[in-house]
Amino acid sequence: MELIEAIKSRKSIRGYKSTPIPRETLTEILEVATRAPSGLNCQPWEFTVLGGGVLDDLKRALEEYIRAGAAPDPDFQTEALTGVYRKRQVELGIALYQVMGIAREDTEKKTQWLLKGMRFFEAPNAIVVSIDEEVSGLLATFSLGAVTQTIALAALNYGLGTCIQGAPVFYPQVVRQIAGIPESKKLVMAIAIGYPDWDFPANKLHTTREPLANVVAWRGV
Ligand SMILES: Cc1cc2nc3c(=O)[nH]c(=O)nc-3n(C[C@H](O)[C@H](O)[C@H](O)COP(=O)(O)O)c2cc1C
Repeated sequence: MELIEAIKSRKSIRGYKSTPIPRETLTEILEVATRAPSGLNCQPWEFTVLGGGVLDDLKRALEEYIRAGAAPDPDFQTEALTGVYRKRQVELGIALYQVMGIAREDTEKKTQWLLKGMRFFEAPNAIVVSIDEEVSGLLATFSLGAVTQTIALAALNYGLGTCIQGAPVFYPQVVRQIAGIPESKKLVMAIAIGYPDWDFPANKLHTTREPLANVVAWRGV
């Protein structure tokens, strides 16, 4: 797939076919993605690739955890958005609920949607991106972003879709226990990955972006 076309066509996929991804394909994607740049070439990324019974167990455990009302306890604190950032977050939520036909006051359907996210949107595979506790500063965590986007782009070449997900790693103890990830590894992000179900309504969403003029300053150009 042509590069610019790939970048433009990547979008978060929240509905998947159940077909598992061959291990060789996942290997190729991760191999090419680790060509991503990293601060001082420290290559801080570590991946735990999940599928089959292990992923089923994790989906079930996360769902039970949420249903039990467990409070999130992420390895990295996330910021509560305010101002224009909060506005964009709200717009995304409205757009997703709209395309999914979920009414604002329908708490049951909203809960079901949240749980679907915890089940990695029923993706047949998921990748947990983690980092050793020894390296968790700016250079390292930024580099994890680079490799994560590269995975999302490389996946397109194999007809695969992805959804980068913070939500599952808000419950790192559950993920660690079922995925067999040691305590010394800090969970940064999860990636749902699989063949997109293009009939699934949320996959039709095309999110907006701020016009470039609002986020760029030109000096001497
Ligand atoms: C750091 C990060 C965390 C995210 N966490 C979630 C998540 O927990 N659940 C979800 O549905 N999407 C999640 N997303 C996907 C974003 O909502 C999505 O990238 C954004 O709305 C732009 O839409 P697009 O990916 O379709 O272009 C996350 C994306 C990033 C980069």
